[in-house]
Amino acid sequence: MSTQTVNVLILGATGYTGTLITEYLEQHPERTKFSLGIAGRSLEKLQKLKKDLSLSAGVKLFAFNLSDEHAINDTVRRANVIINCIGPFWRYSTPIVRACAVNGVHYVDITGEPWWIRDLLREYDFTAMKSKAIIIPASGMDSVPSDLAVYLSARALLKRGEGITLGKSVTAIRVPPGLSGGTLSTVLSAAELPKSKLIGLEDPFALTPAKGIVRPFKMVHSLPFTSIYGGQSLMESINEKIVNRTWGLLEADALSTELSASRHAPPFRYGPNFVYQEFSQTPSRFAGLMLSVMYFFGAAVVFLFPPVRWFLKRFGPQPGGGPKQVFTDKAKIVYTNVTSTDGPKPEHVKTRVEFRGGAYTTTAVLVSESALAILFNHAELPKLGQAGGILTPMAALGDTLVTRLLNSGRLTYDTHTLHPGESRKAV
Ligand SMILES: NC(=O)c1ccc[n+]([C@@H]2O[C@H](COP(=O)([O-])OP(=O)(O)OC[C@H]3O[C@@H](n4cnc5c(N)ncnc54)[C@H](OP(=O)(O)O)[C@@H]3O)[C@@H](O)[C@H]2O)c1
Repeated sequence: MSTQTVNVLILGATGYTGTLITEYLEQHPERTKFSLGIAGRSLEKLQKLKKDLSLSAGVKLFAFNLSDEHAINDTVRRANVIINCIGPFWRYSTPIVRACAVNGVHYVDITGEPWWIRDLLREYDFTAMKSKAIIIPASGMDSVPSDLAVYLSARALLKRGEGITLGKSVTAIRVPPGLSGGTLSTVLSAAELPKSKLIGLEDPFALTPAKGIVRPFKMVHSLPFTSIYGGQSLMESINEKIVNRTWGLLEADALSTELSASRHAPPFRYGPNFVYQEFSQTPSRFAGLMLSVMYFFGAAVVFLFPPVRWFLKRFGPQPGGGPKQVFTDKAKIVYTNVTSTDGPKPEHVKTRVEFRGGAYTTTAVLVSESALAILFNHAELPKLGQAGGILTPMAALGDTLVTRLLNSGRLTYDTHTLHPGESRKAV
C-alpha cells in the first residue's frame, strides 16, 4: 500500500472532465505551492494521462478499486482535498463521500444529481460536521454559477443596511451547447434509479431542512426589468435546490447567531420571503415556450421508452468523450440575475455573471478553485464552511471563491441597481 501524500487528489482523472481538471491544476499559477495526485481504477490509464498531458514528475498516481472500502479509506486519507469526477455519482461515489466524512478529509465534486445529494445529507452530514470535513457536492457548472449570481445580488442589497431581507430572485442562464459521454450516461442512469429515490424531488426545497416559498410553475419565463425571455432549463432541477439549500443554511446560521450572545455583525441571510426561479434564455417568448414543450416532451419520451435510451447510449457521446473544449475557447457563459428586497418599497439589483469558456472547461475552473479555496484559504472561509458538513459552494466558500474566480481571469461580473421605469434593456 502506498504511503505517499498530496494536497489535492483528483479521483476519476482519466475521464473527460477529470482530464480537463488535471490540465487546469497542472498549469495553475500557484502550482508550486501544492502537490497534486491523480487517481483512477487503472494504473496504465493514469500513466498514459501523465505522459499525454506532460505532467510534472512529482504528480503522484493512485490506483484504487471502488469495491474495496479499505482501499478507498486509504486513498482519501492521502490527501487534504479530494476532487471527485466519478459518475454517475449515485452509482459509484457514495463510498468516497463516506470515507471523506469519516476521516475528516475535505471534498468537492461535479455532480448534478439531487437524488444522490439528498441521500448524502441523510447519511453523512452529521458525520462530516463531527469530523469538520468540508463536503461540497455540485461545485461545477451545476451549481456554482447559479449560487454565485444570487449571492452577488444578495451581497449588493444586504450591505445597504441592517434588517434588509430578500424577496424574488430570478436568473436567466445562457450556456453553449455540448454534452460529454459521462453526462449523457448520468442523465440516462436516472431512469434506472429505484422509484423511491425520486419521490419528493419536484420540491425545490428537497435539499433544505426548512421549507421556503415555492416559485410558481411557468412554461414561459421573463426576467424582471429586462426583455430577456426563456423556457425550462435542464439544470434548473439541481440549481434551484442548491440555491435554496444556501438560503436554508444561511437562515439556520442567522437564527443560531441571533440566539447566541456573541453577535457582532448583522447575519448574512436572504430572509424568510426569498423565492428563487431559474430558466434558460431564448431569443423570444415563443422560443421559450417551444423550449419548455420540447423539454417536457423529450424527458417523457426518454424516461418512458427504453429503446430511446438504448439508441442514445449507442449513438450518443460515449464515456470518456465529449465536446472539443480547450481553455483558450472564445465561448462564454452568461448568467443574469435580478433580485429584489422584500417589503413595501422594494429595491432591485441586476447581476450579470460571465465566464470565459465552454461548460466543461468552466466546470474544471470552478471545482479546482473551490478545492484550492479550501486548501489555501481555510481560515478566511465563512463560519459555515469552517464548521464542516455537507454544504453548498456559496455557503461554504462565500467571498473567498468570488476572489479566486476573479483572480483566475475566467470570471467577470457587474452588479447594478435597477430603477422602476428603467428601459427594458436586452442583455
Ligand atoms: N455538474 C457539472 O457541471 C458536470 C460537468 C461535467 C461532468 N459532470 C458529471 O461528472 C461525471 C463524469 O463526467 P465525464 O464526462 O468526465 O465522464 P467520463 O469521461 O465517463 O469519466 C468518468 C470517470 O469515472 C471513472 N469511473 C467510472 N466508473 C468507475 C468505477 N467503477 N471505478 C472507478 N472509476 C470509475 C472513469 O474511469 P476510467 O477512465 O477508468 O473509465 C473516469 O475517470 C458525470 O456524472 C457527469 O454527469 C458534471
